[in-house]
Amino acid sequence: MSSESIVFDPAVDYYDETRGFAPGVEGPAIALMARAGGFASGDRVLEVGIGTGRIALPLAAHVRAVVGVDLSRAMMGRLLDKRTGRAVYPVLGDATHLPLLANAFDGAVAVHVFHLIPAWQTALREVARALKPGARLVSAFYDQPDKLSPVHETLSQAWDEAVGRDRMENVGVSRAQYGTFLADEGWRQDGEPHIYEYTQTRTPREHIRRMEERIWSQCWRLPDAVIVRGVTAMREAAAREGIDLDAPFEVPSSFKALAYFPPEG
Ligand SMILES: C[S@@+](CC[C@H](N)C(=O)[O-])C[C@H]1O[C@@H](n2cnc3c(N)ncnc32)[C@H](O)[C@@H]1O
Repeated sequence: MSSESIVFDPAVDYYDETRGFAPGVEGPAIALMARAGGFASGDRVLEVGIGTGRIALPLAAHVRAVVGVDLSRAMMGRLLDKRTGRAVYPVLGDATHLPLLANAFDGAVAVHVFHLIPAWQTALREVARALKPGARLVSAFYDQPDKLSPVHETLSQAWDEAVGRDRMENVGVSRAQYGTFLADEGWRQDGEPHIYEYTQTRTPREHIRRMEERIWSQCWRLPDAVIVRGVTAMREAAAREGIDLDAPFEVPSSFKALAYFPPEG
C-alpha cells in the first residue's frame, strides 16, 4: 500500500462537474452539516481536504470563517477563482501535519478525505489538536443503499469481476471502516446521523464513460489494460442483458453527516 496521500491535482479540470451536488441538494446538505456540528455564525471552522471549496464556500454562509487545508495547490486555485468575497481561507498543507495552532477552531468538517490518507489516524489526532475544547468534527459522505437498481448492479458486478474489487481499495480508511473509523479511534459520536435523501439518475453510457475516463481516484492507479478489461466487461454485460445504454437508471442516494467529539485526554 502507498504511504502517500492521494492529491487531487489530476481531477482539477473535472472535479466540480463530476462531484458537484445534484440540483437542489447543496443547500439542505450544507445546512445539515452546520446543524450536526452545532456551528454558529461566529464560529471559525476547519476543513480537512478543502479541495475546490465544494463544501467550504456554501458552509461559509453559516459561520464566521472556514479555513481549509489541502495538498493540492491546483484544487485550491479553483476555489480562489470562485470565492467572491466569502470568508474561506485555503492553506497549502498536509492533514497529517496541520500548519495551524492548537485549540484554534470551534468546529471541523471532513468530506471524502480520510480514505485518501494512509496515515489517517495521525490526521485525526491533528484535527483533535486544532479543535477548541468541546468542539466537534463533522464527518459527511454520500451513501448508496446496499441494494442497487438492477441495471446499476449488472454494471457494477461486471466491473468488479473483471477488475477485482481489491484493486479499487482505498489507501486510507477502507470501505469496511467507513461507518466505524472515528469510533475505533476513540471519537465519541454526538447524537444521531443527520441524513438528506434524494435520487439521482445516470445513464449506463455515462456510468461506463466515467470509469473509462478514470473520473474516480480509485481508478487512477489502475493500468490501462485493467481499465479496458472493466469497461469491456460492462459493455458486454449491458448487451447480454439488453440494457439500453441511454436509458437513465435511478441511484437512490443520501448525504449523511455525523458529529464527533475528539477522544478525551
Ligand atoms: C475528494 S476531495 C474532497 C474535497 C472536498 N472536501 C469536497 O468534498 O469536495 C479530497 C481532497 O483532499 C485532498 N487531500 C488528500 N490527502 C490530503 C492530505 N494528506 N492533506 C490535505 N489534503 C489532502 C485532495 O488533494 C483533495 O483535494
